[in-house]
Amino acid sequence: MAGGVGLAPFLLSLERGGPGPALVLFGGRTRERVAPAALLPRGTPLELATDDGSAGFHGTVGDLLEKLVEEGRMPRNSHLQVCGPEPMMAAVAALADRAGLPCLVSLETRMGCGLGICAGCAVDLRPGAEGYGGAEKVLACKAGPVFPAGDLAWEKG
Ligand code: FES
Repeated sequence: MAGGVGLAPFLLSLERGGPGPALVLFGGRTRERVAPAALLPRGTPLELATDDGSAGFHGTVGDLLEKLVEEGRMPRNSHLQVCGPEPMMAAVAALADRAGLPCLVSLETRMGCGLGICAGCAVDLRPGAEGYGGAEKVLACKAGPVFPAGDLAWEKG
């Protein structure tokens, strides 16, 4: 699942043959914003969503996922990989949790140094998240940027 520039990591991943078999859900505000879908490898299963309904599903990519889940079109063994704006990823993380779907998120956190020095990329962990030594925050540049969605403390609203 990708929103906006969040499509970028999937282009490389799919070009290299993983993950598979993959259905790409790609959302943006308008038809122009989802035009980069043309960069996906030929034949990639794709569903588009646009906020204004100018291409694909009329709504957010999270709404599209919800529709697919409700229609039983997400196989039980589906794994979600998500990259996009934080509100979109937070909504998908909540939906994945409700639907019992494993979900990895790739954060678009701003990184000042990328070396673990500036602490500008700190992200909050969900209380009790395992594997972080009891820490309340971690550095996305060192521990991520990919995390299990359930490990993070998503801001409400
Ligand atoms: S980007 Fe500086 S600590 Fe992560």
